[in-house]
Amino acid sequence: MSQGWRISADACLRSRNTFGVAAVAPWLIEVGDPQQLAEVLALPQVQAHAPLLLGGGSNLLFAGNPPGAVIALDMHRIEIIQDSPEAATLRADSGVQWHALVMWTLQQGLAGLENLALIPGTTGAAPIQNIGAYGTETGEFIQTVIAFDRGTGMLLRLPADACGFAYRDSVFKRNPDQYIVTAVEFRLPRRHALRMDYAGIADELAAMGVSDPAAMDVANAVIRIRRRKLPDPELIGNAGSFFKNPMVSAELAQAIASEYPALPSFRGDTPDARKLSAAWMIEACGWKGFREGDAGVADSHALVLVNHGHASGAQLLGLARRIADSVYARFGVWLEPEPKLVGASW
Ligand code: EPU
Repeated sequence: MSQGWRISADACLRSRNTFGVAAVAPWLIEVGDPQQLAEVLALPQVQAHAPLLLGGGSNLLFAGNPPGAVIALDMHRIEIIQDSPEAATLRADSGVQWHALVMWTLQQGLAGLENLALIPGTTGAAPIQNIGAYGTETGEFIQTVIAFDRGTGMLLRLPADACGFAYRDSVFKRNPDQYIVTAVEFRLPRRHALRMDYAGIADELAAMGVSDPAAMDVANAVIRIRRRKLPDPELIGNAGSFFKNPMVSAELAQAIASEYPALPSFRGDTPDARKLSAAWMIEACGWKGFREGDAGVADSHALVLVNHGHASGAQLLGLARRIADSVYARFGVWLEPEPKLVGASW
């Protein structure tokens, strides 16, 4: 990549999305240096159609072929930029694998990201949907996001409070054509109160025989739980949770709970909102383990759509719509997909 980027035509994206859908991009451009983005965005192949920025491809469904160029950021540095006995600030490039970053920080004795172990995807994608699991969201530990602003052609530094982090949401997700995240800076403490109250973590640590856990132990417990519950995209195509847990008013949550007392619900983004378990509702509608052709729902988790081999994006999307329709008919709650849909709208 001598000039900092490389372009190829008619590129198959099968190995670049964890669903394993065989979509084809008219152009694939791999960029190794954020300073080259202005030049890449000015290419005629990119000007023809809005380009798609691709990270680990773990949170999108190619429901059809992308109409324009696909840009992949191929930058992989991690560096500590400030250190003290209490905490450190580090910068990681967009292309760094998220799980590798989590393990690297824990090995440096830094805490905070342990509950987010084993989430597929890249660091650059993490702030976009503010990835979260087991009671932690990435945004809590992000200090600054470095992004290329396509409006001005400049690299910007956005402090966390300008990023609009919320449940699976951020300013980057709300303005998909404005920013390209090139690096993320995290502020991580060396000691902090470990979060083990989320269902399953404390039990897992007990099963591991750990009584005085360190952050690395919590990460190992999370890894064990995820391996058991969530299908490994290396073995069976999937994009993690396919639906968001729907956020409804506390009043509606109460009404639904009176009819379905077993339906789990969680704290919402605001005091008068509750998040309902989409997995529970989908399972109640009988979809868990369902399969039609190669498109299906995981046996181990009702929120995860799976590609058993050669399902097309359209088949997976068709199944997702049937699931959402049936949940709406029974519970009156409309599910929204969590991954980005390319080539279709919901
Ligand atoms: N449940 C079922 N059936 C299932 C699975 C779960 O009824 O097949 C019920 C159980 O009662 C369980 C509850 O749903 O107690 C919650 O399940 P889980 O702990 O697996 O969490 P989730 O709400 O389904 C969310 C995230 C996951 C994250 C887990 C753990 C979303 C959309 N998903 O799932 O994130 O790993 O919590 O924190 O918020 C992802 O985003 O791709 C993802 C995997």
